[in-house]
Amino acid sequence: MGAEVIDRGAKGVASMDHLTKLGSSLEVPNVQELAKEKPPRVPERYIRHDRDQEEPVLPQYSPEIPVVDLQKLLDESSMDSELHVLHTACQQWGFFQLINHGVDSSLLEKMKSETQEFFNLPLEVKKKFDQKPGDVEGYGQAFVVSKEQKLDWGDIFCIVPMPVSLRKPHLIPKLPSSFRDAIETYSKEIKILSMKILNMMAKALGMDIEDMVTLFEDGMQTIRMNYYPPCPQPELVTGLSPHSDAGGITVLLQVNDTIGLQIKKDGAWIPVTPLPNAFIINIGDIIQIVTNDSYPSIEHRATTNSEKERLSIATFYNPKLDGVFGPAPSLISNEKPARFKSIGLAEYLRGYLSRELVGRSYLDVMRIN
Ligand code: OGA
Ligand code: NI
Repeated sequence: MGAEVIDRGAKGVASMDHLTKLGSSLEVPNVQELAKEKPPRVPERYIRHDRDQEEPVLPQYSPEIPVVDLQKLLDESSMDSELHVLHTACQQWGFFQLINHGVDSSLLEKMKSETQEFFNLPLEVKKKFDQKPGDVEGYGQAFVVSKEQKLDWGDIFCIVPMPVSLRKPHLIPKLPSSFRDAIETYSKEIKILSMKILNMMAKALGMDIEDMVTLFEDGMQTIRMNYYPPCPQPELVTGLSPHSDAGGITVLLQVNDTIGLQIKKDGAWIPVTPLPNAFIINIGDIIQIVTNDSYPSIEHRATTNSEKERLSIATFYNPKLDGVFGPAPSLISNEKPARFKSIGLAEYLRGYLSRELVGRSYLDVMRIN
């Protein structure tokens, strides 16, 4: 995206409006509409000629990402052994499924069906929520920074529901009331859940809980709803390019049972099969920074399917937008000095969003050499 659309002038931080215009994407075709074309076709801009050179994809179910039981973490008698499960999952996988998380399954079902209904709306209706120049929120595609860049086979709808002061008047308030209500309740629940998970991570690491709470209390939350239409030649495209998430932690809810998420481990792609009623949690770059490399953020991607559409709801839980983060003081020592710079969230996100989504490269920008 070029300097023509990104608001780089906000570095010094001015109004809240400046703060939430963190980046943007060039306008590209709507993939849901493209996928309806007859005869079906995959335009050149979506074809990854290098897909045959990529790492192997392991068969489904072998191996599986770890499973963490939140109830066991909160229960005095099982806490210690489950903290060990959490710690190992975060250290060695950066990904886990969370069961017994306490979020009502009827709320999850509601959020899923409302998301599905949103993408089912006619294009003219969805267009009212289009991303505006200089903004990644809204309906469209993310991370399209140049005309030469390959495109992902998917559309997104992205909103910032929390803190409430950052809500854009043309987005959440204009949604159908049932969707709005679902988002309202869902984002409150995800905030509570994220704080519980972050607390447990701090415990597992022997980190000062206050370091974690101060950073993430009233954190900024982004919900990104992904829609991957069926693709006539799924082996030629990616639904979402390989990346690590920039935020603190990501809480992913898969909407239907189409498989597509893959994580990279030991030089291979591992497909993730969501458990019913579970969240898929992963470490984002900010937690890798805060934990001073103890918990790595892991590269992942989404593939597409020739028959079925796939939908997912990713919620990124971040520090507060006007806060500064870096390696937690309680995790810095003479033996392990700070490995990353400290930075304000707004400046960090702006830098991240202005780059093409490529692997883990932005984390390297933050690293102290
Ligand atoms: C994301 C993401 C994976 C998926 O939105 O950052 O990684 O399964 N989504 O859609
Ligand atoms: Ni992601």
